[in-house]
Amino acid sequence: MRLSVIGCGYLGAVHAAAMASIGHDVVGIDVDARKIETLSQGRAPFFEPGLQEILAEGIASGRLSFTTDMAAASGAKVHFVGVGTPQVKDGYAADLTYVNAAVDGLLPYLSPGDIVAGKSTVPVGTAATLAERVTPTGATLVWNPEFLREGFAVQDTVDPDRLVAGVPDGEEGERAADVLREVYHPSIAKSTPFIVTDYATAELVKVAANAFLATKISFINAMAEIAEVTGADVTQLADAIGHDARIGRRFLGAGIGFGGGCLPKDIRAFSARAEELGRGESVNFLREVDAINLRRRDRAVDLVVAALDGVVFEKKVAVLGAAFKPHSDDIRDSPALDVAVRLKGLGADVVVTDPAAIENAKRIHPQLTYNEDLDETLRGADAVIVVTEWDEWRRELDPAHAASLVSSSIVVDGRNCLDAAAWRAAGWTYYGMGRP
Ligand code: UDX
Repeated sequence: MRLSVIGCGYLGAVHAAAMASIGHDVVGIDVDARKIETLSQGRAPFFEPGLQEILAEGIASGRLSFTTDMAAASGAKVHFVGVGTPQVKDGYAADLTYVNAAVDGLLPYLSPGDIVAGKSTVPVGTAATLAERVTPTGATLVWNPEFLREGFAVQDTVDPDRLVAGVPDGEEGERAADVLREVYHPSIAKSTPFIVTDYATAELVKVAANAFLATKISFINAMAEIAEVTGADVTQLADAIGHDARIGRRFLGAGIGFGGGCLPKDIRAFSARAEELGRGESVNFLREVDAINLRRRDRAVDLVVAALDGVVFEKKVAVLGAAFKPHSDDIRDSPALDVAVRLKGLGADVVVTDPAAIENAKRIHPQLTYNEDLDETLRGADAVIVVTEWDEWRRELDPAHAASLVSSSIVVDGRNCLDAAAWRAAGWTYYGMGRP
C-alpha cells in the first residue's frame, strides 16, 4: 500500500522505514532538509539499533523515499502523522503547533477515502478537533498511538504488543479500521491484539500507559527512599514483589529515575489536560510521581558529595553515562546529564563518557568535559558515578582494572546496575540507590 509519514523524527523515521520493510511504498516528509538528506542516503539521523539496516534496504528497494515536499503525500492511501508534541515553554501542557501544522499542510493533498492516522502523543480531545478539519476533504481521521521504546523502536514497530485504532462511529470508522488492518497485516497475522475504539480512548491509552510506567518507576524509587532510612535493600524488595505476577519485575528498577522525550513530558501534559477538563485531582498523584523522580537526582548528587566528605570542589568525578537510557543517544531530559551538570555546578571537575550520546550532550552542555575513552575518563578520578546502565560498565568493566585507574575507589551506582559484591571485593566503596 502507498503510505506517507509526516514527521521524520524518532517516531516517523522508524515508522516509515518499518512500513517499507513490511512491503509498503512509503514517502517520509519533514520540514528539516538536513534530516531528509541524511535519511535519503539511507543513513539514520540518530542512534537506534536496526534502523540503519532497514533504512538502507528500503531506499535500495525503491520502496522508501524522503522529501521536504508535502505534495509527495498525494496518492498515498494512509497518511501517518508522527510529529513531536513537546512540553510548552511556559507550562506543563503539550505544544500542538507541529501537529496542527502537519495536518493543515496535508489537507490540500488529501483525496476522498484517504486515511489520516495520527500517531503523535496528544492531549485527549485533540483528534476530535482535527477531525473537523480532515472530514471536509472526504478523508477519515483515525488515532493510532505509537508505543515504541527507544533502543527497541524497530522491533516495537514491526512487532508491537498491541495496536490501537481510535475511529469515528459507523461504517466510516469500520472501513478505516479495515484499512489499518491491511497496513499492519503481518502483525495481525501473528495475532497481535488490534483494539478498535473511539478517539478519546485511543488518545488516553497512550498517556495512561506512560503514566502507569512512570508511576511504577516512582513507586520503587519511593521505596528506595524508605529503604535508605531503614537499611533495607530496594533491589531485593523489587525482586521479591516482582515475583507476584500481578506486579511484575519490569520497570521496578530503582535509581536516578526516568527521563527521555516521553515519560516526563507526557505525565505533565496529562496533568495539564486533566486540569483543563476539571479533573485535575484524578491525576494529582502524577505531580508526586514527577517530584519523587526529580528527588532521586538530588540523592545521587548528595551521595557523591557525602562520599567525598562534603567537598567536591576541584575533585575529579567520572560520570559514566549521558543518554537517558542505554541503547540510545537521546539526551532529552536525561537524568544522567542532569546529575553531571549539578556536580559541575558544585565545582567538581566532571568528565562524562558515553558510548553513543557524547555528540548530542556536547551541543546542549558544552560546559562539561567529555571523553570517549572509558579508561581515560576513570584515570585519576576521586569518585565515579554510574548514571546510564550501558553494558560497557555494567558487564564489561572489570572492577579491579577500574580500581587501578582511579585515585580513590569510590563508586555511586545511580542505576543499581553494578555487581555490588564484585566491586566491593575489588576494593571499592560502593553506594547504591536505596541499598545498604
Ligand atoms: C517510553 C515508553 O516505554 C514507550 O512505550 C513510549 O512509547 C515512549 O516512552 P522510552 O522513553 O523509550 O519509552 O523509554 P523507557 O524504556 O520507557 O524508559 C524511560 C526512562 O525510565 C529511562 O530514563 C529509564 O532509564 C527509566 N527507567 C526505566 C527506570 O528508571 N527504571 C526502570 O525500571 C525502567
